[in-house]
Amino acid sequence: MKQQLEQIKSQAMAALDAAQTPAALDELRVKFLGKKGELTAVLKQMGKLSAEERPVMGQLANAVRAEIEEKLETRKAAIHAAVLEAKLVQEAIDVTIPGTPVTMGHEHPMNKVLQEIKDIFVGMGYQIVDGPEVELASYNFTRLNIEEGHPSRDRSDTFYFTDDDAVLLRTQTSPMQIRVMENAKPPICILAPGRVYRKDEADATHSPMFHQIEGLVVDEHITMGNLKGALETLMKRLYGEDAVMRFRPHHFPFTEPSCEMDMQCHKCHGTGEVDGNVCSTCHGEGWIELLGAGMVHPAVLECCGIDPEKYSGFAFGMGLERMAMRRTRINDLRLIFDNDVRFLNQF
Ligand code: PHE
Repeated sequence: MKQQLEQIKSQAMAALDAAQTPAALDELRVKFLGKKGELTAVLKQMGKLSAEERPVMGQLANAVRAEIEEKLETRKAAIHAAVLEAKLVQEAIDVTIPGTPVTMGHEHPMNKVLQEIKDIFVGMGYQIVDGPEVELASYNFTRLNIEEGHPSRDRSDTFYFTDDDAVLLRTQTSPMQIRVMENAKPPICILAPGRVYRKDEADATHSPMFHQIEGLVVDEHITMGNLKGALETLMKRLYGEDAVMRFRPHHFPFTEPSCEMDMQCHKCHGTGEVDGNVCSTCHGEGWIELLGAGMVHPAVLECCGIDPEKYSGFAFGMGLERMAMRRTRINDLRLIFDNDVRFLNQF
């Protein structure tokens, strides 16, 4: 029996030394020390021994068990350390490898110019307001004194939503005049930037969606002089003190009198010619149209519950893309909407 015990011990030691995984260790524990294991099998034969031999063998068996248990523990620790080591090596991160560069975006040139324009007007006391792009025809046209049958209401120019032409994508930011005036009493001094939509084919100067900035000032004693002052301040701050502009008579149904403001062409300085050729920027005009404006029509004030005998006001509406093109010297409107990073990175 002593021999059997010695054999179990040496087998167990060799097997445990060879085991490489926690699972293998567990199998060996069951094999040697388990209830149906080899050591237990030997112990079951103890009954056959003489009274003198029994305690001696018992002691030896206990010593063998203790040694196997101890070996199990040391192998368990060693395997655990090895597994951890392998995992650390496998998951090692080389912090010295250069990272993948992340390209930083920046503000779109049009937003930059919008921000500049807003800042200039906020500095003059204007409040920035926002309104719906899906608009009622009554706000976009009727209450702006644009009657049924007026060419600007034509289905070929306007995106209508309903068969009765009552709901549309606003064609201008001017409906914001009505939305503000019907809810506020003078003094009113607002700026309303936003998207507008017209059925235009996209080309160098047209897009079916573009941006306008509407301005409206209503108070007692407001005159055309206030309008000119506000717009001149804008132009000089935006384009420099030497910016040259002109006001031309024009017609809008919702302002009276009405005008358009042009900016002297920055390319040909108003001559209409560059190196003996027709200037491509202003098409030989010498001027670039920037905005429409005028004194708010008394009928428009009245329909918003503002007494035209007491109050007067001016309004203007400018194309943001045009302002941005002039400011950043972009020559094709489509570049603004293409979102080509090679273009955008230049600003
Ligand atoms: N809404 C006009 C347009 O789109 C511009 C304008 C605004 C004219 C305000 C006068 C007053 O052409």
